[in-house]
Amino acid sequence: MKVLVIGSGGREHALVWKLSQSPRVSKIFCAPGNAGISEIAECIDIKAEDIESLLNFAKYEWIDLTVVGPEAPLTMGIVDAFKKEGRRIFGPETSGAQLEGSKVFAKEFMRKYGIPTAEYKTFTSYLHAEEHIRLKGAPIVIKAEGLAAGKGVFVAETYDEAIDALQKIMKEKIFGEAGNRVVVEEFLKGEEASFMVLTDGKTVIPLATSQDHKRIYDNDEGPNTGGMGAYSPAPIITKQIEADIMDKIITPLIKGLTKERIDYRGVIYAGLMICNGKPYVLEFNCRFGDPETQPVLMRLNGDFFNAMKAAVDKKLKDIRLSWEDDASVCVVISSRGYPGTYEKGKIIKGLDTLKGKDDLFVFHAGTSIKNGEVVTSGGRVLGVTVLGNNIKEAKDKVYKAIDKIHFDGMHYRKDIADKSIRRGES
Ligand code: AMP
Ligand code: GLY
Repeated sequence: MKVLVIGSGGREHALVWKLSQSPRVSKIFCAPGNAGISEIAECIDIKAEDIESLLNFAKYEWIDLTVVGPEAPLTMGIVDAFKKEGRRIFGPETSGAQLEGSKVFAKEFMRKYGIPTAEYKTFTSYLHAEEHIRLKGAPIVIKAEGLAAGKGVFVAETYDEAIDALQKIMKEKIFGEAGNRVVVEEFLKGEEASFMVLTDGKTVIPLATSQDHKRIYDNDEGPNTGGMGAYSPAPIITKQIEADIMDKIITPLIKGLTKERIDYRGVIYAGLMICNGKPYVLEFNCRFGDPETQPVLMRLNGDFFNAMKAAVDKKLKDIRLSWEDDASVCVVISSRGYPGTYEKGKIIKGLDTLKGKDDLFVFHAGTSIKNGEVVTSGGRVLGVTVLGNNIKEAKDKVYKAIDKIHFDGMHYRKDIADKSIRRGES
């Protein structure tokens, strides 16, 4: 079968890598892909948001399954467009993608279906929002309504910070239209974790748990990024908490989607805050997490193509997934300047020495090929991912591997997985 994967990040490299292991997959295309992906798939020069060209390509090549990586094409209606033409595609239609595309929609949905989340109010008026913040006091969280490339959330420690954030979103319009409405919500104190499930709208299959590291510097300091590293499993999610997540979050979510007549076939990613042993939803995403997907897929046994196809064909009840007991750690290497403006075009050395290993894979994100050499072309560049008997062994292994890689201005966190290791020791 022929597969088209849309996107160009580490998540898409991991998806392509896992799909390529399926005996049922004869050919994989990726649009637009990156240097690493081009070693296992044919990269096509079409942007992820160019829905019309992607659909034409899928029709022309008789693609059997298209898998959408990032949220933008989903919220723009790629699934609606493909389905209209009878093409099999993994992901929600725009109605379901609103769970990620509109924070107001997501919060209202959670309120309606009793899903635990932070208390909140939404505002279209700057003055009313300001008054509410004065009343509530800090710490408080201010969120732009629409998609803002992961940067639309401000966790304000003080009243002044909160007002500053409000001004940026609603007056200066730094995220444009995405700032027409804001959500002001209660600050939740706890530990974050990521929980992804596959669904065909009826059956739900949870994926292995994971934990991301959003800040750019060690000890969770500095600005938020797309994610600087992740590990799986996440020991914060005990068996009891996992049961609670399924009962109190995922089951009501699926029931709510059915009730609202939203035909959701794809992955749902719940960004959670675990507060005193209880899970609360910070956000829903309508796609796989990046970098969480890299360590999660590293641990997956079996055929992921079958699972994804079954989700689209509404046959997920026939699928069983199992996970290696081994732990996996992924450390992201980024370019100097990220998450602000960053450098590009730096030659990456040492990648060849890390090829051909069962317990290690270097997933590419912002890389391309220039004059026959792999160079940097994005903020997040590589995700070095390993398997180990336990988290500590995996951590030692991943940093030994990173020592072999070099490019000018490379940055990575040195403390990925420390939280998990400390938990294990305590
Ligand atoms: P979101 O995009 O809504 O997941 O928010 C991005 C990040 O902001 C989250 O990963 C958390 O670190 C933080 N955050 C969001 N909402 C809250 C909240 N209610 N309380 C504390 N931190 C939050
Ligand atoms: N790693 C966070 C995200 O994918 O949204």
